[in-house]
Amino acid sequence: MEQRESVVARIDTLREAIADHNYRYYVQDAPTVSDAQYDALMRELQALEAAHPDLITPDSPTQRVGAEPVAAFGPVRHSVAMLSLGNAFDEDEVVAFNRRVEDTLRGAGMLSDDKGVHYQAEYKLDGLAISIRYEQGRLVQAATRGDGQTGEDVTSNIRTLRSLPLKLRGNYPDVLEVRGEVVMTRADFERLNQQQRDRGDKVFVNPRNAAAGSLRQLDPRITASRPLRFYAYGWGEMSGNVPAFTLHSEVLDWFATLGFPVSPNREVVQGLEQLLAFYRRTGEQRDQLPFEIDGVVYKVNTLRAQDVLGFVARAPRFALAHKYPAQEETTRLLDIEVQVGRTGAITPVARLEPVFVGGVTVTNATLHNEDEIRRKDVRIGDTVTVRRAGDVIPEVVGPIPELRPDDARQFVMPDHCPVCGSAIERPEDEAVARCTGGLFCAAQRKQSLLHAVSRKALDIDGVGEKLIDQLVESGRVASLADMFTLTVDELAQLERMGKKSATNLVKALEKARTPALEQLLFALGIRHVGETTARALAQHFGSLQAVMDATEDDLLGVPDVGPVVAASIVRFFAEPHNREVIDALAERGVQARAVESQTQGRSLPLAGKTLVLTGTLPEWTREEASRHIMAAGGKISGSVSRKTAYVVAGEQAGSKLTRAQDLGVPVLDEAGLKALLGMQE
Ligand code: IVH
Repeated sequence: MEQRESVVARIDTLREAIADHNYRYYVQDAPTVSDAQYDALMRELQALEAAHPDLITPDSPTQRVGAEPVAAFGPVRHSVAMLSLGNAFDEDEVVAFNRRVEDTLRGAGMLSDDKGVHYQAEYKLDGLAISIRYEQGRLVQAATRGDGQTGEDVTSNIRTLRSLPLKLRGNYPDVLEVRGEVVMTRADFERLNQQQRDRGDKVFVNPRNAAAGSLRQLDPRITASRPLRFYAYGWGEMSGNVPAFTLHSEVLDWFATLGFPVSPNREVVQGLEQLLAFYRRTGEQRDQLPFEIDGVVYKVNTLRAQDVLGFVARAPRFALAHKYPAQEETTRLLDIEVQVGRTGAITPVARLEPVFVGGVTVTNATLHNEDEIRRKDVRIGDTVTVRRAGDVIPEVVGPIPELRPDDARQFVMPDHCPVCGSAIERPEDEAVARCTGGLFCAAQRKQSLLHAVSRKALDIDGVGEKLIDQLVESGRVASLADMFTLTVDELAQLERMGKKSATNLVKALEKARTPALEQLLFALGIRHVGETTARALAQHFGSLQAVMDATEDDLLGVPDVGPVVAASIVRFFAEPHNREVIDALAERGVQARAVESQTQGRSLPLAGKTLVLTGTLPEWTREEASRHIMAAGGKISGSVSRKTAYVVAGEQAGSKLTRAQDLGVPVLDEAGLKALLGMQE
């Protein structure tokens, strides 16, 4: 008897601990145990329940997959309709929305001050809407939106989402229908697709389709294996023991205390300007967010004001979705051509009927490589989905098979380089085909030069594709060293070049004659040497000559350098042509600045410190600032945390500045940074 009591107590403790860890992980985003520790608790609970099956309850965390597969999803009538939102695609529409809201509220005597209406601004998550019903704190039913009146019963599937409580915490009401979005994070989506690929299963085109496909499984065990998350943004029926709320934001805060993950980064803002500022700020962060959003949503925050505003047709008058330009569109694939890269890599490029996507008109998109074309089964003539997210190169996601014309053609990889005529070869174990022409190939020469002058390399302003084309095609420039013999007079003769830009360019070349060693190493375009490796090499060897003299063994002593990279570096410097270019560069006065290495006694001012840059600095570009910081031993990060040593903020600094202030992280301007670097006169 006594033993049974202790089993009951232990089971209770375990269930509570597991629910608690879920809450810390999914709601507070601050886990306190490792996955292994979590799994150990789960296994202990499973073992105890196996030994005492009569103690199993439906809300035990072991019972998330309870039900057997179903033949179809039954209908669920929503007790409160699930509405949709009105959309705005430009600022004018937001202005009009805000004006209607203000007029109505002023008319009702509910808008007194002139600073405008309070709104809650939040993400418009790109997943699928779900309503989840809790009775007496227990999850009893979940349904999709359907037509807004009747949805589909997906209770057994929704129960498998670890981010959702099976039992509510704290002081819950008798009935609560929480509404929100089921989404998949980008990272989880990539992992899932990799898994699908490895197993030879179909891949999903985007996180939303993956989330929808995972939730619409008739077998809940499959849903359980998919990384779905839920974020609450609203509610349906809510009754019995409900605190008196006045604000929408308060209700969502309360949901968090009951154990729900609530749509993150919500902000209460006031007036039109602040709405638009939220939209812009969020737009800048959009591509860095862990999940996809297709807009932001504005909701009048005062619940009584929401009631006064009411509804039109199937959408509320008190809320609005302000959309970002779509990142995916469909268009026709007119042809597939190939492009030759810096290392000879051949990339198939889709020529498209122009389409407006991700805020620009796209006519070309990458298809990565031959295998990718086969895998996606893309054919010339197909209607395809094109994706452009942020600054990322547009890509063809896949065809729409139903729209395939009879005369659609397969792509065939050419066997000779379209630029230099050399053979194209593809080593058996590699995905990439390459032109074997090396620097004999004008395409490879042009790409090497463009790489060498790029920002992270020698950072020579004013050299673009058109100029390089002219210089290489006329035979005037054959290698990087030739760039440093260009004169103002001859440059001024070229197309699209005036005296002024020619003078500026020669000045930029002058400045580029003394790069940091890591910039020069990166500029050389050694295969497998990216900026990080270039930096490590510079720190380790201190001079170009020392890198050139290094053996594979010496190179293996550098952090992050493995056998493939070491071999590639040795091969590069063994090539007489490359040595000639380096000698010619030296002759023309191009020489790396001396490296101040950590081993040279004086410790670096920012050693071990992490800094975050935000906004536009008055003098330095982001690259320049990063370079100085790294040269002083510091690290750059994209996000602010308690571990951040300093945030360097310029004009139009965004949420990183706010976060720094919230966390009490010191904030510097450019002058402050220079002082820290000991560069202030
Ligand atoms: S509120 C009455 N808030 O957008 C208002 N919806 O077109 C009901 N969505 O079906 C929706 N993020 O799937 C709201 N923060 C958010 C949202 C959001 C995404 C979706 C939701 C809804 C659709 C509305």
